Amino acid sequence: MVTPLIMADGDSKSLSLVPFLLLILITAPAVTGDSLDSDSQVLLSFKSYLESWNPTERGKYNEWETEKKDVCQWPGITCTPEGSRVTGISLTDSTISGHLFRNFSALTQLTFLDLSSNTIGGSIPDDLNRCHNLKYLNLSHNIIGGELSLSGLSNLEVLDLSVNQIAGEVHSTFPTLCNSLVVANLSNNNFSGRIDDIFNECRYLKYVDLKYNRFSGEIWAGFRRLVKFSVSGNRLSGNISASMFRGNCTLQVLDLCGNGFVGEFPGQVSNCHNLNVLDLWGNNFTGNIPAEIGSISSLRGLHLGKNEFSRDIPETLLNLSNLVFLGLSRNNFGGDVQGIFGRFTQVKYLVLYGNSYVGGIHSSNILTLPNLSRLDLSYNNFSGLLPSKISQMQSLTFLILAYNNFSGDIPREYGNMPRLQALDLSSNRLTGSIPASFGKLTSLLWLMLANNSLSGEIPREIGNCSSLLWFNVANNQLSGGLYPEFTNMGSNPTPTFEVNRQKRDYIIAGSGECLVMKRWIPAEFPPFIFGLETLTKRSCRSLWDHVREGKCIFPVCPPGSTVGPLDISGYLQLSGNKLSGEVPANISQMKKLSMLHLGLNEFEGKLPIEIGLLPLVFLNLTRNKFSGQIPQEIGNLSSLQNLDLSYNNFSGNFPTSLNDLSEMSKFNISYNPFISGVVPYRGQLATFEKDSFLGNPLLQLPSFFNQSGNNNTSSGERDNGREEEDDDGASIDMLVFYWSTFSFYVVALMGILVLVYFDCPWCRAWLRLVEAFTVSLKIMLS
Ligand SMILES: *[C@@H]1O[C@H](CO)[C@@H](O)[C@H](O)[C@H]1NC(C)=O
Ligand SMILES: *[C@@H]1O[C@H](CO)[C@@H](O)[C@H](O)[C@H]1NC(C)=O
Ligand SMILES: *[C@@H]1O[C@H](CO)[C@@H](O)[C@H](O)[C@H]1NC(C)=O
Ligand SMILES: *[C@@H]1O[C@H](CO)[C@@H](O)[C@H](O)[C@H]1NC(C)=O
Ligand SMILES: *[C@@H]1O[C@H](CO)[C@@H](O)[C@H](O)[C@H]1NC(C)=O
Ligand SMILES: *[C@@H]1O[C@H](CO)[C@@H](O)[C@H](O)[C@H]1NC(C)=O
Ligand SMILES: *[C@@H]1O[C@H](CO)[C@@H](O)[C@H](O)[C@H]1NC(C)=O
Ligand SMILES: *[C@@H]1O[C@H](CO)[C@@H](O)[C@H](O)[C@H]1NC(C)=O
Ligand SMILES: *[C@@H]1O[C@H](CO)[C@@H](O)[C@H](O)[C@H]1NC(C)=O
Ligand SMILES: *[C@@H]1O[C@H](CO)[C@@H](O)[C@H](O)[C@H]1NC(C)=O
Ligand SMILES: *[C@@H]1O[C@H](CO)[C@@H](O)[C@H](O)[C@H]1NC(C)=O
Ligand SMILES: *[C@@H]1O[C@H](CO)[C@@H](O)[C@H](O)[C@H]1NC(C)=O
Repeated sequence: MVTPLIMADGDSKSLSLVPFLLLILITAPAVTGDSLDSDSQVLLSFKSYLESWNPTERGKYNEWETEKKDVCQWPGITCTPEGSRVTGISLTDSTISGHLFRNFSALTQLTFLDLSSNTIGGSIPDDLNRCHNLKYLNLSHNIIGGELSLSGLSNLEVLDLSVNQIAGEVHSTFPTLCNSLVVANLSNNNFSGRIDDIFNECRYLKYVDLKYNRFSGEIWAGFRRLVKFSVSGNRLSGNISASMFRGNCTLQVLDLCGNGFVGEFPGQVSNCHNLNVLDLWGNNFTGNIPAEIGSISSLRGLHLGKNEFSRDIPETLLNLSNLVFLGLSRNNFGGDVQGIFGRFTQVKYLVLYGNSYVGGIHSSNILTLPNLSRLDLSYNNFSGLLPSKISQMQSLTFLILAYNNFSGDIPREYGNMPRLQALDLSSNRLTGSIPASFGKLTSLLWLMLANNSLSGEIPREIGNCSSLLWFNVANNQLSGGLYPEFTNMGSNPTPTFEVNRQKRDYIIAGSGECLVMKRWIPAEFPPFIFGLETLTKRSCRSLWDHVREGKCIFPVCPPGSTVGPLDISGYLQLSGNKLSGEVPANISQMKKLSMLHLGLNEFEGKLPIEIGLLPLVFLNLTRNKFSGQIPQEIGNLSSLQNLDLSYNNFSGNFPTSLNDLSEMSKFNISYNPFISGVVPYRGQLATFEKDSFLGNPLLQLPSFFNQSGNNNTSSGERDNGREEEDDDGASIDMLVFYWSTFSFYVVALMGILVLVYFDCPWCRAWLRLVEAFTVSLKIMLS
């Protein structure tokens, strides 16, 4: 592996000369004056600066050359129309690392600077503040820290600092920056402090995005004259008062979600005649939902979840003919579902989870809404039989009834919903068997039936569910076998993913995706752990879109791949049932299966060697009756992280191929009393403790497992023993090495001094040589 220069710090001695050499080269032929010539000098010094931070990888600036006379033709550079001065630099996504260049101000006509989507760190230097002509500054998607001080950019129109790590208050920048500002995107940083007065003087401001910071205090009262205003995910508090909407309101998007606002929400919001999205989710608003909202005819998304609104839904809302999304989750409504929901015939997404509703759903007419695509009634207290009427909603794609008290059989009519992509009935009290009619659900991606009391066989027809990648029936009473027919399940999800790619869903972030995702993507198991680490509310939405469109989000995907229904990680969770018989050899057909959990069942016989052909990351066979040799082929599962073979009747020789599983972090082969052979004393298997090997009397363990006493000493010996031996020899080599490196640099330095002095064309070539040597030195040392 080649480590980029800045990552390493251990051997900085030999490298510290490089900036010095560069400095000599840069400062020697200094050109002064405001001209295209001086601009190109600055750009070349910018280029050398970028190369000094990252000599191994280069963006399009690599083609900037002195020989090519016309600076204005350099990639990423724009000039004045007559080509007399440089006005713009665009180096987005150009593998730039290190700190920001400190001499942009020498480009006195610079108006446009885009360095987004790199890994620029450090803080914003004072020099940038002297770029007085700058109109567009985009530093988004970097790792810039420090505090913000940009009051000098008085001509700025667009400021995008989103997705960085900038902290502190913004008062030294706003409102001084505001003369011409139209766009201010500070989202996804670590800003704090008050915002109530910062934009007062920003006359032209239209788009303000402050979401996911730590701003506190009251809201800025002037937001109505913007087009978009988002403060979601901050710590703002206080009231939203009627006066904030008085006069002309131009808002199209108002996003206040995830703060601590209290009191009633004012009906004057209806002054915002162009409002598209009103998102109040996750505050402490109380009182009635304002009836005036019903007159905002442009409204498409109304998100009122996780508040304390009262139970009455105003009739006026029925007039919102463009309303697509209606979310009223977690408002503690209780009782029967309000009948009015059955009259929102225009709505596609109805999200009512977490409201403690009781009874059946029959009291309202929501089960006949013609255009409904997603119905989420999970985390309530509905009881009785599952209504079969739901199957008449032919546009339904997501039906989520999990975590209720439904009982009885699953209606076989549920098999008549050809567009259904997710059916989640988990954690109810359902009995009876899984209807064979489910085999007709060819769009189904998720079938979630875990934690019920279902019995009987899993119908062979499930194998016809060609999109079904995620199948979870854990913890039921299912019996019968894992039949060869099942392995066609999920064989071709591409058509379903295609439908989703063409028709992006209109949902507002935070509408329950996170909750659903955590259930459908099992956080406790690899490879899904990785996905959920990053699953904050801010990332749910995009992750959700990724999964639905069949793009890979987990590291099982080949590095660098972007799309791939072929690479998506499917699962089969059958644990905690009474399933029996053998695992069919053709399980190897399930090319997308990353997680196979067969634990706590009654499976028996040999494990087929074909298991080694699956892209498994997780394989759990605990507490079954498997017997025979453990296939050596498991050693081919190179991305396997968890392997549990415990409590079975495996016999024969211990498969030493398991030592090849370098990703494995959990391993258990305990209580297979007939396993014999020797566990290797070095390698991956030696990293596990004794309790991975309990109850295997015939198995010979490495001696360090048997030493009583200090765990640390023994494992320390295991890992480091050999390295210590080699140490002396190595250090002598290093001395010779350092000495020759030093000599090389002394000669190189003298050469450069002479060459620079005569300003010859060889200078840069010589420097390149020195640099190349430095890079290879670096690689040798790492
Ligand atoms: C910035 O660039 C100008 C023009 O090339 C040069 O004269 C000046 O020395 C540079 N300043 C720094 C700090 O590098
Ligand atoms: C800033 O750059 C990012 C990434 O290149 C881009 O998505 C975004 O639209 C840009 N912001 C503005 C305001 O142009
Ligand atoms: C601000 O930046 C974030 C992240 O780049 C982006 O998702 C968002 O759309 C931007 N907001 C505006 C108003 O442009
Ligand atoms: C944000 O700032 C707070 C202090 O204001 C600090 O404790 C926290 O670690 C910072 N978070 C990040 C991600 O930098
Ligand atoms: C509201 O807008 C109208 C026309 O768009 C304009 O004439 C009026 O002055 C505006 N009122 C305020 C208070 O800005
Ligand atoms: C809402 O109010 C309750 C008490 O009434 C409080 O416990 C809770 O933290 C508040 N929530 C927010 C988001 O401020
Ligand atoms: C403002 O919030 C307080 C709670 O802090 C509440 O008592 C009061 O009624 C609210 N005022 C309005 C106008 O909503
Ligand atoms: C719906 O709008 C119509 C006309 O715009 C109006 O007559 C009617 O009263 C409104 N209905 C409700 C319930 O507000
Ligand atoms: C249902 O959707 C179709 C097509 O999107 C539309 O034409 C129809 O008006 C919608 N029905 C209702 C009641 O809104
Ligand atoms: C749900 O309803 C049952 C009775 O049907 C009751 O025993 C239980 O406490 C309720 N649970 C909740 C969370 O309200
Ligand atoms: C295998 O599954 C059982 C039961 O779900 C669980 O207790 C055990 O931790 C799992 N093993 C591994 C290695 O994850
Ligand atoms: C050895 O490690 C195991 C598990 O980490 C621990 O339970 C045990 O107490 C340790 N024994 C000693 C003697 O430190």
